[in-house]
Amino acid sequence: MSIYIDRRKNRVTLKTRRTMYVFEMLFGKYPIHLYYGAIKSTQGIEYVKKSKSFSATYSDERFYPDTVASELPLFGSGDYRATALKLRSMETGSDVTYFIYKSMRKFKGRFSPDGLPCADADENTETLELTLTDEVTGAILRLYYTVFPESDVISRYFVLENRGKADLRIEKAMPLSLDIDGDERDMISFYGEWAHERHIQRQPLMRGNQRIFSRRGSSSHHFSPFMMVTDKKATEERGEAYAFNFVWSGNWLGEVETDQTHNTRVLLGLGDECFNYLLKSGESFASPEAVMTYSAKGIGRASRNMHRFVRAHILPRDKFPCRPVVLNSWEAFFFNIDAERMEAFGAEAAKCGMDMVVMDDGWFGKRVNDKAGLGDWYANPDRFPDGLAPFVRRVKKNGIKFGIWIEPEMVNPDSELFRAHPEYILSAPGRRQLESRTQYVLDMANPEVLDYLKCAFAKTLGNVDIDYIKWDMNRNMTEVYSPSLPPERQGEAAYRYMLGVYDLFRWFNENFPNVMIENCSGGGGRYDLGMMKYSTQIWASDNTSPIHRTFIQHGSTFGFPTSVMSCHVGNHKGCIEDARKLDYRFRVAMNGPLGYEFDVLSVSDRVKNTISEQIKEYRTYEELILRGEFFRLLDPSACGRYAYYFADSEADASEFLLSFLQNEGDESERTFKLKLLAADASADYVDTISGEGFSGAQLKKGITVKSDKDGEYARTWHFVRK
Ligand code: GLA
Repeated sequence: MSIYIDRRKNRVTLKTRRTMYVFEMLFGKYPIHLYYGAIKSTQGIEYVKKSKSFSATYSDERFYPDTVASELPLFGSGDYRATALKLRSMETGSDVTYFIYKSMRKFKGRFSPDGLPCADADENTETLELTLTDEVTGAILRLYYTVFPESDVISRYFVLENRGKADLRIEKAMPLSLDIDGDERDMISFYGEWAHERHIQRQPLMRGNQRIFSRRGSSSHHFSPFMMVTDKKATEERGEAYAFNFVWSGNWLGEVETDQTHNTRVLLGLGDECFNYLLKSGESFASPEAVMTYSAKGIGRASRNMHRFVRAHILPRDKFPCRPVVLNSWEAFFFNIDAERMEAFGAEAAKCGMDMVVMDDGWFGKRVNDKAGLGDWYANPDRFPDGLAPFVRRVKKNGIKFGIWIEPEMVNPDSELFRAHPEYILSAPGRRQLESRTQYVLDMANPEVLDYLKCAFAKTLGNVDIDYIKWDMNRNMTEVYSPSLPPERQGEAAYRYMLGVYDLFRWFNENFPNVMIENCSGGGGRYDLGMMKYSTQIWASDNTSPIHRTFIQHGSTFGFPTSVMSCHVGNHKGCIEDARKLDYRFRVAMNGPLGYEFDVLSVSDRVKNTISEQIKEYRTYEELILRGEFFRLLDPSACGRYAYYFADSEADASEFLLSFLQNEGDESERTFKLKLLAADASADYVDTISGEGFSGAQLKKGITVKSDKDGEYARTWHFVRK
């Protein structure tokens, strides 16, 4: 059991394996937060009244909304800080938002709102439903707390029902809100841009409100919705760390605000700038789900909690336990593909020991460059004269699987689809249309667009024996206006767009049940839990330069498991003919599901033989890479080296894969200590690569690595218990 209700005190305690979360209904009315942290005795966890001049109270209650730690900070009712919910009555215009507690119940499993991606429950999952009401508007708010005890994760989401007579407008919706006592903390967020995703930013909390967000219509390359709040001194192994994430792929807002009471308020949700939603009388709205975890033992453990959670409850489960090593055509040929070339490419991939060839962009309509053809989902007859199905059969004769690239949400102005249906795109009345990569965004909120796409893909791919789809999305939204929605619903356009995208993902998963989906948005522009719900892995970045990759991959591991992080070996300017460079690129890529992305037809036999050996090596460690516990050791931005290890267990582990990746050489030698704290001090281990023996105590104390003066260099150790 993980949810305990004390009805006498109106108090709830949520427990996971190593964390505890406590709140109660003050005066039987207001859900106030009491504690989130390591498990301890609840004695002494009490509400302490704080009052401040210029904070308001109801005369009969002495309740100061502005100073209290709240489970549900509401706009306009005395809490001057950033709030989680803002509702406007369309009858009176009032945005004074107010709810009081009515009842609660708990149940096994969870509530899963229709149409939204949400975490899967298992036999240990329990949910608390808290019902609140507002007599003035007639609105009913159900707050959900779902507890995933094994991964130390608690999620939050809500459903709002308008049972009143008048319409309401939701003007801010933040399912996650957490008040943490004290404000001397750091915030860690992950910023970036195209080809440089998820770079780490750690800064002390300032007084005031710090925000991260996306207004691009996708979760974006520019900030990840994953964020952390930690002790100032928190390291990978020590100190307190809270981590937060959002199961959503569209616009979002994360806020961290400190205030006069030295409270840190964390909010995560849909925000107020790019979202508002008309809730007509009789309608209800379900928010996406946000998740949080806590670690008393450092940032590394908070990451591992999230990894465990994503692997067990988000990713399409157990379907693809072993991942195909792919060869992708994009960096090999860009748009210059045809049946003959792809067949030769696939045959060579098979000879190198790869599992799958992926035909990237360029196979459909008039798509011979990025200026035309998007939206016309039929095989280009000049390039595939006898169609896709016989071509794929020929490719697969070599014993290799076949994957294909699509970008369903987009259209080139120069396409049959756009000429026939200019009304299918997001476009605002009277406004000029911005282009990005010469494309427009389809109105995925329009059911007709979804039908068109379903028919087109059913026709083109339905009878083709594909094993994998790479689903891309290569621009952000502008002119966010859905011609299929009435004027009063335009604040919902971007939100409803995402619901349409999720609908299409579900259609693919249902109609192509054995096809693995790899997600991509110009690389890692939609690297989020919403996408992970439907796609087994995500192309982490368009940047395959290994040095840049160490930064991107290191940052990505904070919130997301490595099993989702697709990593390819690229061949810029023929550099992989240099054995050391090829080895380095491979070891950088062995941080997640492995692939290759260059013209194997034009490399030397020596390179091909090396690739075969690399794939065998990757297979030896695949179980650890996909399902092991991940420990970060060196931050490449701090010392030019990326080091980490996988272990088969968080403590007293029996098997380790340790990687040291040096991005740049040093004139004078430096040494680094790589401590494997998950080792069992009483055990003996052997490195199966060098044959060298180590005691567990030695591994815990650290392996010493010397820097190599010659630049890019990598080393791997594989320790197993004797
Ligand atoms: C995006 C992807 C690339 C490739 C191209 C094709 O940029 O991230 O991997 O698929 O589109 O146009």
